[in-house]
Amino acid sequence: MSQVMGKNVSRKDGRAKVTGTATYAAEHPIPGLVHGYLVTASIAKGRIKSIDTRAAEEIPGVMAVFTHKNAPPICPPTNNFITSKIYEARLPLSDDTVHYGGQIIGLVVADTFERARHGAHQVKVEYDSQPPVVEAKNATFQEAPSMFGESFTFEKGQFATGDFTAGMADAAATVEATYTTPTELHAPMEPHAIIAQWQGDSLSVYEPSQWVMGSQRTYAELCDIPVEKVRIITPYIGGAFGCKGFPWSHAILCVAAARQLQRPLKLVLSRRQMTANTGHRSQTEQRIRLAANAEGILSAIAHEVKSCTSPVEVFTEPCTNITPVMYAAPTMQLNQELAVLNVGTPTFMRAPGENPGMWALESAMDELAWALNLDPVELRLKNETKEHQRKGLPFSAKHFADCLQMGAQQFGWKDRPMQTRALTREGQLIGWGMAAATFPALRGQASVKVRLLPDGTVHILTAANDMGTGAYTMIAVTAAEALGVPVDNVRVELGDSQLPDGGMAGGSMMTASIAPAVMEACQEVLKTANCTTASAAFDALRQSGREAFEATASTAPGDEGKKWAFQSWGAHFCEVAMDEEIGRLRVTRWVSVMDIGRVMNGKTAASQVRGAVIMGIGQALMEACHFDPDIGYPVVYDLATYHFPAHADIPRIEVTFVGKPDLNFNPAGARGVGEIGITGVAAAVANAVYHATGKRLRNLPLTPEKLTNQ
Ligand code: MOS
Repeated sequence: MSQVMGKNVSRKDGRAKVTGTATYAAEHPIPGLVHGYLVTASIAKGRIKSIDTRAAEEIPGVMAVFTHKNAPPICPPTNNFITSKIYEARLPLSDDTVHYGGQIIGLVVADTFERARHGAHQVKVEYDSQPPVVEAKNATFQEAPSMFGESFTFEKGQFATGDFTAGMADAAATVEATYTTPTELHAPMEPHAIIAQWQGDSLSVYEPSQWVMGSQRTYAELCDIPVEKVRIITPYIGGAFGCKGFPWSHAILCVAAARQLQRPLKLVLSRRQMTANTGHRSQTEQRIRLAANAEGILSAIAHEVKSCTSPVEVFTEPCTNITPVMYAAPTMQLNQELAVLNVGTPTFMRAPGENPGMWALESAMDELAWALNLDPVELRLKNETKEHQRKGLPFSAKHFADCLQMGAQQFGWKDRPMQTRALTREGQLIGWGMAAATFPALRGQASVKVRLLPDGTVHILTAANDMGTGAYTMIAVTAAEALGVPVDNVRVELGDSQLPDGGMAGGSMMTASIAPAVMEACQEVLKTANCTTASAAFDALRQSGREAFEATASTAPGDEGKKWAFQSWGAHFCEVAMDEEIGRLRVTRWVSVMDIGRVMNGKTAASQVRGAVIMGIGQALMEACHFDPDIGYPVVYDLATYHFPAHADIPRIEVTFVGKPDLNFNPAGARGVGEIGITGVAAAVANAVYHATGKRLRNLPLTPEKLTNQ
């Protein structure tokens, strides 16, 4: 019987955050700190002909100016996603080549931030400039290579099964359409920042890191020192969404420069610098073909994707991941192509692949429903697949139909007229739209230490971290449940490489990785105490006079992945109100139902979905990063030019969970909730816009000029 698991527990870290005592990377008070400021390229392709640092070096307080001519030593890491990983394969300042606008070409270090910044502006650079390619229409696309090997979640983009020509023939209805998404920015509230502190040959790094142990190994390799000499400290992260998983070039340079100078060095990036140097979601172009018989049973699905990468790294936005898990079809054709642009390196951004993939597929399913005159919920129910059509495995648990039916019920979907332009309110067109959501469930190895103290408190220690998403609370809830103690008595310490390896906060896998380890460590510590309950253990501890009872447990996935595919499911339902005259679109109502296995903490899980829906509404209505086609520089580069939703743009978002534990996946039964919430959101909005207006919009974002009836 659950005592606290699945209930609504407020954030353990809430008070620290609202009172400002939560310490983020740039805020750690390190004595003797000096400051860095990046010098960045003002062309997008070419070579540095000359770089003159004399004026910068003469500024009082400037201690060093690093360029490719005097770059501090850096060793290439293994860079394989297992031992070590950096975001850009090219090491910073490794030569005089400029691959994209805003690329790092120097670092000025001074005693104050202002002097470092002033110095950076005094560095004079002459270039041999070439015309950059920043638009996909001018780029050459080729078959996308596999980034990780077949075993990982990101499969090779190419896949074909069945007789596609036959599948498309004799259909009662077909859809063939192309959907696009623009370049999108992560825009975390906490900017990228790092403090690197060397003490002799030991390195401490204060940096927001989604993968503490991975960063530790990566910096060790980059600096050619033993892993034990590196400590990563990251107790709080102010949002990451995939852009704080591995060291970027600025961080590598900061660590190397601090070593050379033997001074603790702080480097904080501006929003403009983040645009070029800390990742984005690649623009995509996706062609979908669907065919179905008169009953709405699919006979063919094709999904062909184009995305872009930078000249210095291969990153494919893996949109076709979702195609074989959503709907059953006897024949399927998947293809991913990639082109190189002179733009910064794209990377993982909340539901990489799944998010743009579901935009296209769920828009196309809506188009098919209209073509067949079928309810879009009905069409999805008729076609759900019982197995992962690429892996050939059944799903460990799947309650997708519950999501659709519960969502439809809550929203009042049965009252939706099956025609466009049928609903109006106060002179505005009203539309109702829906779309499915999905995300794979991943789990990794994790180790957790539990300590029982004589004052009746429980300490949980692991080098996992909390990106702002609720890990502190989820871990406390899990321990409280396992030991039968109040959540308030549990103290959680995260984000320090001196603690046991807590795995990665990425791929929505933290809960599924950590919760089983917490549960096992709690059982272990009771065994250590030779007690069956925590209260008996605390009594025994006090009588023994010992400082603590402690135990460490490590858990990892077994071979369950050979029997099942693990995937989470969901459905979004929304209402939009549209003033066609001026192209004003408002999202006025939202219902999301998610099947994520067991819900560990209702409050933070619902917050995760709400945050993701808000991010998806931003993607639907406003988010886009544009580049000047001639000079190749981003013309959208900060929070003033990159628009995302404010409170006034967001309606009440109702979130419900199916809540059935997936014990085939792990002993906690939880599948994670970080990313699924954003998938399908943009499609639900565009589908609602079609219902409101009769206008099918296939190019995100749905800005006013696309929405007016001119
Ligand atoms: Mo996530 S895009 O795996 O941080």
